[in-house]
Amino acid sequence: MKVGERHYRTIWPTRDGRAVEIIDQTKLPHAFETARLETVEDAATAIRDMWVRGAPLIGATGAYGLALAMATDASDGNLSVAYDLLYATRPTAVDLRWGLRRVRDALRDLPPGARAEAALAEAATICEDSVATCAAIGDHGLPLIAALAERKGGEAVNILTHCNAGWLATVDWGTATAPIYKAHDAGIPVHVWVDETRPRNQGAALTAWELGRHGVPHTVIVDNAGGHLMQRGLVDMVITGTDRTTAAGDVCNKIGTYLKALAAHDNGLPFYVGLPHSTIDWELEDGMAIPIEQRAESEVAEIAGRTVDGRIERVRLLPEGSSARNDAFDVTPARLVTGLITERGVCEASRAGLLSLYPERGERRAG
Ligand code: MRU
Repeated sequence: MKVGERHYRTIWPTRDGRAVEIIDQTKLPHAFETARLETVEDAATAIRDMWVRGAPLIGATGAYGLALAMATDASDGNLSVAYDLLYATRPTAVDLRWGLRRVRDALRDLPPGARAEAALAEAATICEDSVATCAAIGDHGLPLIAALAERKGGEAVNILTHCNAGWLATVDWGTATAPIYKAHDAGIPVHVWVDETRPRNQGAALTAWELGRHGVPHTVIVDNAGGHLMQRGLVDMVITGTDRTTAAGDVCNKIGTYLKALAAHDNGLPFYVGLPHSTIDWELEDGMAIPIEQRAESEVAEIAGRTVDGRIERVRLLPEGSSARNDAFDVTPARLVTGLITERGVCEASRAGLLSLYPERGERRAG
């Protein structure tokens, strides 16, 4: 997507292939800065400390991280060490495992001398696929928004989203935002309610920033406002992303997503989830088995922002001595999900629904 006059993706290799550049998302929305990752340790730090975040982008960064590792030592031993280092960075988004496995599998039968180049090529392919996949999610989600717009006689469709499942969370386009961008670009009037998404404020900092850059009308709301707005008829649909969707359609996403799904259900509103195939965990059925990342107490206890004189400051919110708990994700059961918007189409959130779009998975299981 465009930042100013320039088109950016969230991750790209340098021309000489020796490093990878990313947008440092910890600096947004107050500064747009890029960072250079030169080693596998840099890639691991970027994922762990959330310079990059969002399930598909974590997967792409993991893939490039393995490529960086192969450039210095392409032995089996180092492949395994690098894989483990990257895999340990964040536990919930399954795209990380998917991206790492894809590169590792591409290298397994290659001699060490051929591995660095092959890893770089595989990571680049993962990124190209991701862009095409997210654009297709947009194409399949667009008619859902168009139908609501038609029912509203051309009045803006109010879409609530949680966290950032936008282009910043992917390589480009986003998952939840792809249908929104496609609708906006097609001239369908949309307005987005952006949950601030405490504690790290991915909604207020990132989703608001990218929607603003693209000219999509939006309003930031506190996390607890969604249910109230739904009761007042101010929300037409919810679209979120997901970090891991089980083979039975349970959806794990940023903490607070479950409450939005409950409120949407109570108000008879559609709750859709946008996701690429890389976010489906075919090895798990029950969402309760998904590992939920526990993050630092300080993310809840403190908040950062820009002062009136332009400095970025962190301040403490809690009384000294109070502790905080910081579960980063929650699970929305499939029964609360109206539909999954994938690159292959929209399906019911269930094993049967997913298999209708990915029949090869059923065959593999039977075999
Ligand atoms: O902790 P984060 O910022 O990595 O969490 C991101 C989310 O929960 C997104 O909604 C999800 O990854 C979908 S991204 C397309």
